[in-house]
Amino acid sequence: MTSRREFLKFGVSGLGLAAAGCGGGSGSNGAPAAGVPVSSPAPVGATLRVAPGSADIGAGELPGALLYNGAWPSPTLRLQRGAPVDFTVANDLSEATNVHWHGLFVPWEVDGHPSVVIAPGASKRHQFVVTNRAGTYWYHPHPHGATARQAYLGLGGLLIVDDGSDPARGLPTGSSDVLLVLADKRLGGLSQLSYAPTATDLAEGLIGDTLLCNGRQGLRVPVEPVWTRLRLLNASNARILNPAFADGRTFWLIGTDGGLMDAPVALTSVMLSPGERVELLVDLAHDGGQQLRIVSQPFALGTTPGMGYAQTAPLDVLLLDVAQVAAGPSGTLPAAFEPINRYQSAAAVTERRFQLTSGMSMGAMGSGPQINGLSYDPNRVDFQVPVASLERWLFANMSPMPHPMHIHATQFQVLTRGGTAGGRVPTDLGWKDTVLLGPLETVEIAVRFDGNPGRYVLHCHNLEHEDGGMMSNFEVV
Ligand code: C2O
Ligand code: CU
Ligand code: CU
Repeated sequence: MTSRREFLKFGVSGLGLAAAGCGGGSGSNGAPAAGVPVSSPAPVGATLRVAPGSADIGAGELPGALLYNGAWPSPTLRLQRGAPVDFTVANDLSEATNVHWHGLFVPWEVDGHPSVVIAPGASKRHQFVVTNRAGTYWYHPHPHGATARQAYLGLGGLLIVDDGSDPARGLPTGSSDVLLVLADKRLGGLSQLSYAPTATDLAEGLIGDTLLCNGRQGLRVPVEPVWTRLRLLNASNARILNPAFADGRTFWLIGTDGGLMDAPVALTSVMLSPGERVELLVDLAHDGGQQLRIVSQPFALGTTPGMGYAQTAPLDVLLLDVAQVAAGPSGTLPAAFEPINRYQSAAAVTERRFQLTSGMSMGAMGSGPQINGLSYDPNRVDFQVPVASLERWLFANMSPMPHPMHIHATQFQVLTRGGTAGGRVPTDLGWKDTVLLGPLETVEIAVRFDGNPGRYVLHCHNLEHEDGGMMSNFEVV
């Protein structure tokens, strides 16, 4: 069971799980295995079944998990840009759930709004057309008040949108396109997976003691000595990561939440908060036969002593096992990708401000995390945004805690951080749906909703904060 790789197949008549022993680095369809079950082809007429199960983190089975189609980790869904999606989510849990397509532009009825849920035993059909840019998105549950627990227990996987042009862009594919889902758990010697947040966890977010990569502890990924693409999702409830190579080598940031950037940016580490994705390119051409460690390097956010957020020691993420020789050419670093049309902030018609507070903010003691002094009320709509109108939104973090802020139904652009365009971090330069605000930091974005009128949410993607009320309803009209 431990070494079994689960390979997910979508068929016309339904979704079946085949326990195919496809050991080795890559699945057929050019998809990397790396511990992530892979789907193929597009999910039309298929069923995604949500049910209890067990987690195999590489050290025996842990009961208490929640799974999509019986798979730990959750299957990767591959969608074609422009293609229709039509499949059913069947809820075999004893509680309500739903599925949110994080980063995708979908009608609000199938977006996984916190109050649009699938009752136990019921199922729901999801139909939409994929209009997003090619990129790395994800799906996870979003029922009001239960998102943190359901996601923590295992529900959440990658959604890869493909437009068929990556080979033409000079980007690695197949086993050199490595998909990595990072999520921490608090195992502490437990023989089962359980979500048991303390009062401190509820205030600050639950930080685990074990970082899993693709659901495994100590994951080793076989790669070739060529230019390699790494796609990382931080699916942790609250842990912020700072991925880097242990040897300090340079890599290139090529993509953010909404797909490719306009050009690669050289980095040696990259901050990745819950909900965010990055795509990286790294040159492994001279590393044949080596093992390369990827870690999360120590960092500190916020300056108030005893407050803020820090990772004080390096944290192991995974090991890349580089083969001795490459089967093909080693590739190169593309000079540029498609240009990003930058919003002109002066063209924004409306300005909105969002003040972020936590129970620890001045004057907000004990209120829990809030947006503009309000806790989430599923029945209250906080504002309306006209379709296709460019807006400027200012997030001001008044609290000593970091908050990764996420907006449904859009990809936005970061205009300023800390009041200046120059204060932006590298990931701010691509399309974003989730942006990290450090303690007392401000971030200004330009945002537009180009279709799909309806009710959506924005919220902190620290899932304990989200469930604790740091969320707001808005309507696209
Ligand atoms: Cu990934 Cu509303 O969430
Ligand atoms: Cu989302
Ligand atoms: Cu938060």
